[in-house]
Amino acid sequence: MASSFSSKIGVLLAAAGSAIGLGSIWKFPYEVGENGGGAFLLLYIICSLLFGLPLVMNEFLVGKLSGKSAFGAYRELSGSNKWQWMSWTNVICVAAVMSFYFVVTGWCIYYMVEAGAGAFEGMGAEQLREHFEAFEGKTLTMIIYAIIGIVMTGAVLWFDVNKGIERLSKILMPILFVILIAMAIHMMFIPGGLKGLHYLFHPDFSKITSKVILEAMGLSFFTLSVGVGALVTYGGYMPKDQNVTSTSIQMIVMVLIVSVLAAMIVFPAVFAYGFSPAEGPELTFVTLPDVFQNMVSPRITCTFFFALMCVAALTSTISLMEVMVAFICEASEKTKHPLNRHKSVLLVMLLQIVTNTLVVLSMTGEWGWLKVMGNNLFDVLNDAVSNYLMPLGALGISLYTGWFVPKARYQGSRVASVVYLVMLRWIVPLAIVIIFVNNFI
Ligand code: TRP
Repeated sequence: MASSFSSKIGVLLAAAGSAIGLGSIWKFPYEVGENGGGAFLLLYIICSLLFGLPLVMNEFLVGKLSGKSAFGAYRELSGSNKWQWMSWTNVICVAAVMSFYFVVTGWCIYYMVEAGAGAFEGMGAEQLREHFEAFEGKTLTMIIYAIIGIVMTGAVLWFDVNKGIERLSKILMPILFVILIAMAIHMMFIPGGLKGLHYLFHPDFSKITSKVILEAMGLSFFTLSVGVGALVTYGGYMPKDQNVTSTSIQMIVMVLIVSVLAAMIVFPAVFAYGFSPAEGPELTFVTLPDVFQNMVSPRITCTFFFALMCVAALTSTISLMEVMVAFICEASEKTKHPLNRHKSVLLVMLLQIVTNTLVVLSMTGEWGWLKVMGNNLFDVLNDAVSNYLMPLGALGISLYTGWFVPKARYQGSRVASVVYLVMLRWIVPLAIVIIFVNNFI
């Protein structure tokens, strides 16, 4: 894969492709809606800049300085085997993310197909909600579409056609950007739409609780793909003279813009068409088809939009699966049963088919007993990843680099400034601990 990043812009776009995905277009809007609007948006932006930036820079740097993926990087940089457990926690978290991410990727593929067949034409808010609820009851359909997502991702890694995907996403991602902007502008002018923007941009600080702060931080880590070593891999592909700081800032700005644009489309629709902001995980899927009803050739634009959403999801799943595949290849290298790339891809695909199937069975109630403390596996994993695993992973990585990587390793890197070190050693870890603990007392 290393050969596929031939240029600095290539690394930036690949990292942005990993980051921009369902987190921004699906998770972000519904979490804003569940957590009261503007105040949550503000917290999300603060967390992304204050904690996200040093953490993104840090992961890039760990990769760039060690030249290794998450499996070997921590050991290499600190010169000690003691840190191998961090690689393991990283890979477990990545597996957890994929176990529900493919389910939602499946929703995108299904909605693209449905839109293409004209299924949403003429549907109002109530019908669109019912349509989604009916889909949520179709266990087999949901499993099949999740598997389609897994197979497509596996195929990209199997045939090593990342270069092709990268080239494709270089064309498609700017198109997604332009369409999002056009839709956001369109939504400003629909009757009642401004209420949505008011909801989004007028923070109501009484809505902030310790849980809301934790969710904003977790969501910012999720959308930035930070805290699980996924970005370490990209750091390893950076040319020597690539500036880590500016690459990180550019990536974060792109993610923030896409997230905010997605919300600027969804919330005007919520208020104008009579949805509830706190609709939950189906929010994007029920509002978007309605958005297109009033646009030119609704069927074609809606299909095309869900197709772009699939591409955004796939560039993220490719990066997630690659972390696990590389991990298995490297981890098995010195054992009696080394697994080559193809075998690792197959193994990860199989594991993901099993876990995603279990998640769907638990979610649709087909296997009603498959619950953790009364919650289905989809909710449990979705919550655990952003509110526990990613903050704790980020805490681990910042403490590790701040305190346990000899400073000499950073020499020659302009990033090792005092501010950066203070952030990594003190501010970020303390903030994560305070936000985390505050949520439980
Ligand atoms: N950031 C991606 C999104 O917003 C999801 C993602 C890709 C991710 N790679 C990751 C999340 C690694 C956590 C860790 O859709």
